[in-house]
Amino acid sequence: MLKNDLLLKAARGEQTERIPIWLMRQAGRILPEYRAVRSSVHGFKELVKNPELICEVTLQPVDILGVDAAIIFSDILVIPEAMGLNYEMIESKGPFFPKTIQNAQDISVLTTDVVPNLQYVFESIRLTKAALNNRVPLIGFAGAPWTIFSYMIEGKGSKTFSEAKKMLYVNPVLSHQLLDKITSATIAYLKEQIRNGADIVQVFDSWAGVLSKAQYIEFALPYMQKITEAITEVPVILFAKDAHYIVKEFSQTNTSVIGLDWTIDPKQARMEAPNKTLQGNLDPCVLYADKETIKAETHKMLQAFGPQNYICNLGHGVYPDVDFEKAKYFIEVVQSYR
Ligand code: CP3
Repeated sequence: MLKNDLLLKAARGEQTERIPIWLMRQAGRILPEYRAVRSSVHGFKELVKNPELICEVTLQPVDILGVDAAIIFSDILVIPEAMGLNYEMIESKGPFFPKTIQNAQDISVLTTDVVPNLQYVFESIRLTKAALNNRVPLIGFAGAPWTIFSYMIEGKGSKTFSEAKKMLYVNPVLSHQLLDKITSATIAYLKEQIRNGADIVQVFDSWAGVLSKAQYIEFALPYMQKITEAITEVPVILFAKDAHYIVKEFSQTNTSVIGLDWTIDPKQARMEAPNKTLQGNLDPCVLYADKETIKAETHKMLQAFGPQNYICNLGHGVYPDVDFEKAKYFIEVVQSYR
């Protein structure tokens, strides 16, 4: 039995005595304690494959920030790697894939049998679950098929993801083949995270915003739908960044929670998804402001969402140069709000 199950109750649509809060990217970006662990290893990937250290950095935000959930420290790019497409994490630049997906042959050699290759994640989940000692729920996660596809085609981050979008227009059949493979791998991965202790899972569609609504409906939504239909064990959170155009369609899937970025008005989102718990959506830049402003902006948002069927969060991951004291203050404001 969890001592603090506010997040799960809110996700299931049950009444909560107060609003639960966690922060996307809460582990690893703003804590000096993370940087100390990070500088003790040679690179990001060494950390991501070390269950003891993963456990340590996953617990840091729970201990230091007092959030109502832990999210397992990992990365969405472990899936392409487990499928057979290796990546490098280039210091202060981001991910880089030496080889990208270009044709049918490249797709055919990818495996969807990823579980054996991701044992380090599952071991990390087991360790973290034990160390948490039922204090708060543990969130598992994966990248959305479209976002993973983007990296596999593009090979790195991009403002436009024009190479990935080009594939959608030039070779839609091949695109669906790859998206389908990623989806199968992702479902197996999420199910195994749950089997090892994840209490809830979030699917991050970070590059949803580069697609038109029509493209999202054709190339992204069916796969998100497939994931929400397959994951029946625990609640699912769907988060599609910059895709406020799809909130209504998400409300018609089996998802429990819809994550929102700051470009959508809370009241608008409530109208479009009256049947779902909503999560979000404070602009991460608010945390650069003084405490008075943080409090005022937070209260405005909490009032707009209302106290039930709601999980407080930022509208995207916390920015690395945010003072962790400000993040801590934001969390305190939410937890003391009645
Ligand atoms: O939420 C958490 O605290 C758990 C950890 C987590 C990481 N990545 C650790 C990480 C999570 C949930 C992610 C997800 C992720 N990774 C997403 C989706 C969320 C989003 O922000 O939209 C995406 C798009 C990635 C891909 C990725 N990984 C990029 C673009 C980068 C470089 C820039 C950066 O810092 O985000 C990474 C590296 C990465 N993943 C770091 C961390 C802590 C920084 C690397 C380091 O410490 O050296």
